Amino acid sequence: MDDLREKYLTLIKDVADEAALEDLRVQAVGKKGEISLKMRELGKMTPEERQVAGPALNALKNEINSALAARKAAMADAALEERLATEWLDVTLPSRGRPAGSIHPISQVTEEITAIFADMGFSVAEGPRVETDWYVFDALNIPGHHPARAEMDTFYMKTKDEAGNPHVLRTHTSPVQIRSMEKMGAPLRVICPGGVYRADYDQTHTPMFHQVEGLAIDTDISMANLKWVLEEFCRAFFEVEGGVELRFRASHFPFTEPSAEVDIRCSWEGGTLKIGEGDDWLEILGSGMVHPKVLQAGGIDPAVYQGFAFGMGIDRIAMLKYGIPDLRAFFDSDLRWLRHYGFASLDQPNLHGGLSR
Ligand code: DAH
Repeated sequence: MDDLREKYLTLIKDVADEAALEDLRVQAVGKKGEISLKMRELGKMTPEERQVAGPALNALKNEINSALAARKAAMADAALEERLATEWLDVTLPSRGRPAGSIHPISQVTEEITAIFADMGFSVAEGPRVETDWYVFDALNIPGHHPARAEMDTFYMKTKDEAGNPHVLRTHTSPVQIRSMEKMGAPLRVICPGGVYRADYDQTHTPMFHQVEGLAIDTDISMANLKWVLEEFCRAFFEVEGGVELRFRASHFPFTEPSAEVDIRCSWEGGTLKIGEGDDWLEILGSGMVHPKVLQAGGIDPAVYQGFAFGMGIDRIAMLKYGIPDLRAFFDSDLRWLRHYGFASLDQPNLHGGLSR
């Protein structure tokens, strides 16, 4: 027994890794291990011999088991020590920071527009981008044969609302006129900014773009109010001292009567555009006095109330104000472009105190 003790304690001490240690365990105290076999021999002994050998063998087995466990724990400790020594982290280093985003020019311009109209008493209303053809067309007096309703211009959905009106991606923000009338009644002064969708794609058209709708309804609204509001807006938005001259051109929209398209005075010199001077005119929006049928569709009595409305392309006027030549760039998500035209620099330190990028 002393030989066995000596043999296994030495082997356990010198063992190389956990797998070898497990082999040793099987070899010593496993079912067919050397010590287990010895214990079986107890049966062939006389009771006197057994009284001596039994406890001694048991003690030996316990001793070997403890040695195995101790060696296993020591190996695990050593492995941990090694990891702690090689894998370490300097928590005193300054943080690397996260890149800070910037305000997209469209969002920035939408905020500028909203602020200017807020000063004139207009609140902001929003409507769904997935609309029904009732709000986008019928309620706005757009007849069934109107080209805007054609499959090739408009993104129709396969679904319908409860009343059976097909869903469509709104082609303009004008449906928010109807939704605002329904929700707020008259008198009313709102602007409605948001995304709209049409099947178009070239340098000045993208399938998704942004418009802002304006709507003012009261008992004594006239074209004069429309003209003043738009002039006031252009003076503030384009930051031209003394204001920007506007030209109202007779036009037609199903939802206004009379209707006008509005141009701003500008000049093109050497490929650069200057707003407010020169002999050229640039169209920026459509407008008019709200058609009585549209007021009716919104639940407002046209015998008592009138209103003016306008619709302007946000992307279009952002291009004009910031000299952006290609509309498609707004939606390319090119970081270099966004850093150039984005507001609030991407190089600003972020809130965590580190440097961005
Ligand atoms: N909805 C028109 C469009 O998308 C723009 C427009 C024209 C809006 C005249 C109006 C308006 O409110 O009165 O082309």
